[in-house]
Amino acid sequence: MSCCRQCEGLENVFDDGTAKSDLEAYRREGPAKTTRLLLDHLRGAGVDGLTLLDIGGGVGAIQHELVASGVRATVDVDASRAYLAAARSEAARRGYAERAQYHHGNFVELAPQIEAADIVTLDRVICCFPDMPGMVRHSAERAKRFYGLIYPRDTWYTRTADRIGNAFLSLIRNKYHFFVHPAAEVDALVQRQGLTLRYHRNASFFWQVLVYER
Ligand SMILES: C[S@@+](CC[C@H](N)C(=O)[O-])C[C@H]1O[C@@H](n2cnc3c(N)ncnc32)[C@H](O)[C@@H]1O
Repeated sequence: MSCCRQCEGLENVFDDGTAKSDLEAYRREGPAKTTRLLLDHLRGAGVDGLTLLDIGGGVGAIQHELVASGVRATVDVDASRAYLAAARSEAARRGYAERAQYHHGNFVELAPQIEAADIVTLDRVICCFPDMPGMVRHSAERAKRFYGLIYPRDTWYTRTADRIGNAFLSLIRNKYHFFVHPAAEVDALVQRQGLTLRYHRNASFFWQVLVYER
């Protein structure tokens, strides 16, 4: 599957309706449980005064939470215009719009224009993209201190769910596909960028949370 086709699929799946309901859910309930684990670990390591690059930030939960914990500036790169608008409006509501930047498009293509940051996060993002090596390499090399990842556990049942789900999406001609990338390959690519694993938690039946440090 080409990246163009997948990016078109991402715009369709993460549309205005999804962005609106996700933002309402975030305002009501706060970040997802897996996101909270990542945030807790980063806060424990110390984020005051650091910069954040949040790739595929959705409604911006990580950005809003880490700014509240002392992060001084944020950059959000997302393939969904609707999610970027939701993240931007929440940043304005919280009073930090002037410290936030937004880029629309495929991060792997935009990477040469995106500066390194102290913290780089990808929360449930690499599972939305076929070119995992490109995504991991370009994002990990931009992490000056911490690199946070949330992505599916690499098990027989997540791979089976992936195959069944994608067969169904093909059947209904949906351009969006989901990817369970091999965890050993993801880890090797991250470590090759000079980062060391500091935290790993199988946070649920489906998701794992990892933090690497330079
Ligand atoms: C499942 S959503 C997760 C959103 C948010 N991080 C969260 O956990 O709630 C996946 C996000 O990744 C973005 N995404 C996927 N591939 C991308 C790419 N190549 N470049 C930029 N954004 C991408 C999607 O547009 C979407 O915002």
